[in-house]
Amino acid sequence: MFADLSGKVALVTGGGQGLGLGIVLKMAEQGADIAIADLNEENAASAARQVEALGRKAYTARMDVTDRDSVNTGVGSITAEAGQIDILVNNAGVAGAPGSTGTAFRDIDWEFTWKVNVKGLADVTEAVLPQMRERQSGKIINIASVAARAAKYITAYYATTKMSVIAYTQACAREFAAENINVNAIAPGRIWTQFHQDWMKEREAMGDEAVAGKDKYAVFMASLKEVIPMGRPQEPSDIGALAVFLASEEARNITGQTIQCDGGQVMV
Ligand SMILES: NC(=O)c1ccc[n+]([C@@H]2O[C@H](COP(=O)([O-])OP(=O)(O)OC[C@H]3O[C@@H](n4cnc5c(N)ncnc54)[C@H](O)[C@@H]3O)[C@@H](O)[C@H]2O)c1
Repeated sequence: MFADLSGKVALVTGGGQGLGLGIVLKMAEQGADIAIADLNEENAASAARQVEALGRKAYTARMDVTDRDSVNTGVGSITAEAGQIDILVNNAGVAGAPGSTGTAFRDIDWEFTWKVNVKGLADVTEAVLPQMRERQSGKIINIASVAARAAKYITAYYATTKMSVIAYTQACAREFAAENINVNAIAPGRIWTQFHQDWMKEREAMGDEAVAGKDKYAVFMASLKEVIPMGRPQEPSDIGALAVFLASEEARNITGQTIQCDGGQVMV
């Protein structure tokens, strides 16, 4: 075990699939009990079964991070069931409004993406914070994106929200440091999750010749070879492993950082 999370309870938003599920499973493997808060209850239940199969306790809550009542109810029910939340992973995120055209100018894309990726993330943090403050202990990990520092490859509204996650991480890290609460972010690179697959479909619908009529996975692999020095995609488990480290006591002196996990696409 490289970082022991035994006795800790981790809440992962959007933990039912993709990157969030990778974080859920890595943290459970390292001994944490896990709460999965997701819009999609079926996926949350399936993730919970996988956590239990690893011998850990699992809790689920249907949560919409854009709805403050839903956030407060979800955090309240998980805290009542699990006793406390020691680790918060703000992972739920979107790349546009449902049916996004991928253009940078639709109001609905700006508003929807902001509500989930930034305001929703902040609302979940505020809901969990009082108990961390009371215990003078906590770990918060925000999922940003390579898109923040390599914005030319993605829409303006998505990149802007992810840069905001970095700014929010730094502001919170400074504010909560004296209460022994670490706040860090991970900037994942390119991962073949539903998120990326939906984006390919949207590009095709827009008539993007680079993807129209082509094998989307092959397009994905070819595109990342151009920009990622290591030439390979990232996996949910890669992000999970980094999240485990940041949540562990070994990382107690790391705060306010955004760590790239992108095969070297961005070097800071
Ligand atoms: N896939 C990539 O290449 C990539 C790269 C960098 C960063 N990211 C970021 O990683 C995070 C996860 O991405 P993913 O690829 O796993 O996406 P995904 O679409 O596969 O999964 C997102 C999860 O979040 C949940 N979710 C969406 N909106 C929600 C809401 N309002 N309330 C609660 N849950 C909600 C979904 O139900 C789903 O379980 C996002 O923040 C995304 O921006 C992804």
